[in-house]
Amino acid sequence: MTTQTVTVDLGTRSYPIHIGPGLLNRSELLAPFLQQGRTLVVTNETLAPLYLERVSSLSASSDTLILPDGEKYKTLHTVSTIYDRLLADKFDRNTTLIALGGGVIGDITGFAAATFLRGVNFIQFPTTLLAQVDSSVGGKTGVNHPLGKNMIGAFYQPRCVIADTDVLGSLPERELKAGLAEVIKYALINQAEFLDWLELNRPRLLDRDPGLLSEAIRVSCQQKAEIVAKDEREGGIRAWLNLGHTFGHAIETAMGYGNWLHGEAVAAGMVMASDLSMRLGWLSAADAYRIKKIIRDFGLPVAPPADIEEQQYLDIMLSDKKARAGRINFVLLQGIGKAIVSSEVEPALLGQTLQACNALCEP
Ligand code: NAD
Ligand code: GLY
Repeated sequence: MTTQTVTVDLGTRSYPIHIGPGLLNRSELLAPFLQQGRTLVVTNETLAPLYLERVSSLSASSDTLILPDGEKYKTLHTVSTIYDRLLADKFDRNTTLIALGGGVIGDITGFAAATFLRGVNFIQFPTTLLAQVDSSVGGKTGVNHPLGKNMIGAFYQPRCVIADTDVLGSLPERELKAGLAEVIKYALINQAEFLDWLELNRPRLLDRDPGLLSEAIRVSCQQKAEIVAKDEREGGIRAWLNLGHTFGHAIETAMGYGNWLHGEAVAAGMVMASDLSMRLGWLSAADAYRIKKIIRDFGLPVAPPADIEEQQYLDIMLSDKKARAGRINFVLLQGIGKAIVSSEVEPALLGQTLQACNALCEP
């Protein structure tokens, strides 16, 4: 299997996403993007014993920082521990920060890179499927606040992304499925034929067929790269990438960070967005059923947890980053492959969706 490269085209800030097996051994992919100065590889205690030595040996002068593992550590306090280390060890403006991990490590390290000395060089080595298809690409960095997901952050693009597909071999099953939720998202927002491909190849993707996983990552990154190149700061179509996220972030916030995985919350959120789209008359019942079926077939939740009240959803969704002037902005579907952003949803219809989806959850 060969290495595939997708480019995020942002003029002078363009960067490559390399995808393929064995990339953790390929120092020549990293070398062009290292500064003259020192490198700090940031990872967590789960990944350190698996991959840290290999990644830190890719650059001549590399220090390492091992953070605790978990969404609950995606906080300003953890970012502060990165600043503490950088300042105590006198890292300067020529520093490169390398994130080795999933979306949590990538988002935290990216935010530290965006803000340390007003911005230092940043490189991503994503290790979850979710990070390889989504979070390592596009420059959204940041941390959670007790009152909302990803509320503190910055747009800050990496100089390059190196997605070694071999590392997916050690990924827990539940994390693999959570990543597949974001892959399904790309099909639903913009690429109907990709949904056919996912339905056809589902068993082999779940079996981690390396060629098919690489192809799913390439297609996903290609789509994200095209959308980000057109709308880096989410003034328009980038919001499509948040399909399922308005409901999903409410689930993650209400349940306590880390109890529902991000991809699981997005999966249930996409079913809820489909239900709402159907109630608006935009999506046929057959398409809404097809969406629910593929999400269920990939082993993902199709209903939210039982414990969230309707008012709690509304309170959290109104503080979503996409909400404006007291109106929730929803990403909805006008068909499979046709996302649309709308703030014109009647509260009564939203209430029906929340009630219908809540009725589906396990007692
Ligand atoms: P994660 O980073 O918590 O990783 C999941 C778990 O898998 C962790 O326990 C991690 O240590 C472990 N792990 C990672 N790679 C592994 C490997 N190869 N082998 C064994 N274990 C491994 O979760 P995630 O799903 O990667 O990321 C979720 C986060 O990403 C959320 O905070 C979400 O908000 C964020 N996100 C950001 C963006 C963005 O555009 N920046 C997009 C989507 C999601
Ligand atoms: N994951 C949504 C985005 O990057 O815009």
